[in-house]
Amino acid sequence: MEKIKIGIAGFGFMGHCHADTLKTIDEFQLTAVADINPNQLRDAPLGVNVFHTMDEMLNGADLDAVIISTPNLTHLEMVEKAAKAKKAIICEKPAAMTVEEFDKMTAVTKENKVLFTVHQQRRWDTDYCIMKEVYDKKLVGEAYVIKSQLYGFNGYMHDWHVFPELGGGMLYDWGVHLIDQILNMVNTPIESLYADLKNVINENVDDYFNIMIRFKNGVMAQIELGTYYLTPKRAWFIGGDKGSAVIDGFAGEGKIVRTSHLLQNVPGKITMTAAGPTRSFGPAAPGLLIEEPLPQVQVSHRDYFLHFIRSFYNKEELMIKPEEVRRVLCIMEAVRESAKTGEAIRFE
Ligand SMILES: NC(=O)c1ccc[n+]([C@@H]2O[C@H](COP(=O)([O-])OP(=O)(O)OC[C@H]3O[C@@H](n4cnc5c(N)ncnc54)[C@H](O)[C@@H]3O)[C@@H](O)[C@H]2O)c1
Repeated sequence: MEKIKIGIAGFGFMGHCHADTLKTIDEFQLTAVADINPNQLRDAPLGVNVFHTMDEMLNGADLDAVIISTPNLTHLEMVEKAAKAKKAIICEKPAAMTVEEFDKMTAVTKENKVLFTVHQQRRWDTDYCIMKEVYDKKLVGEAYVIKSQLYGFNGYMHDWHVFPELGGGMLYDWGVHLIDQILNMVNTPIESLYADLKNVINENVDDYFNIMIRFKNGVMAQIELGTYYLTPKRAWFIGGDKGSAVIDGFAGEGKIVRTSHLLQNVPGKITMTAAGPTRSFGPAAPGLLIEEPLPQVQVSHRDYFLHFIRSFYNKEELMIKPEEVRRVLCIMEAVRESAKTGEAIRFE
């Protein structure tokens, strides 16, 4: 198999991450990098051609594919250039600032018959893949609620991320991944969405969101992100009619909990708590709850690129399809609308 000659446009934080990953994969040959800031090019890997613009790179290097890792506002222009130059494209997320922009991208990539996908690599996160398996294999029965929570302690954003017009803010950042994960997991039409979006400590861009998605199959999903919660965690909860599954941590630490009693209409035993007596919310009687381990998964973000190679050689269907990327962008627009109006948005 011939190596895929690939160039990276935008050699900042993600551009460097991509270069590090590509050098671990034999099927890629990192051929060129381009960045308008010469300082970013100083540590370009030896033997790789360096350019200052996408145009120079497309004209000056022999490439099969490009990765676009420039700030969000520039993605449309970059995709248009790469498509017209007939290169396969991996664009960083969010692919576009709006659905309208994304439609222009799909049009130009279709017109030029180039492979077009987006780096929504968090479909290969360990915590997510474990919960997807819990959901798909009905390990807690029929799920009725899913919570995906990400809390951090460093609310301040940096560089272009603090400017809304450049595509800053957390909805464009982690929001894309967290929404994509839920849509990929539940994979059912959406009935409605209700959301809040706040600028807690950043003046211009959102740094908090809380999104409720009601799916047509009855599942209610909640996606909550706070950059300034000061109680960091990455947590999941899936409630089903045969048990509950929890995760706390990116490594997927957690458990499945079951009971043989809960759904059999057995009256709860009254127990005393600091808040008074209760049948349902006190400590469970010994033996009532059974804990089981979560399924194990072996995944890494490198798998995203291994999958891309198979799609590039037509051996596998694209996993991050343009229509799925578009759906995430539609949700993001609905989130902004719901947060602005305080109303639920009817969907699909
Ligand atoms: N998939 C992920 O997990 C993930 C994580 C972080 C960032 N991102 C995405 O990656 C992209 C880049 O983010 P970043 O954090 O690396 O930003 P960054 O600021 O660190 O890097 C962007 C680079 O692009 C360069 N640049 C800007 N305009 C350019 C142009 N017209 N031509 C060539 N180079 C140009 C800048 O000089 C800079 O070096 C964004 O779309 C961001 O959302 C994705």
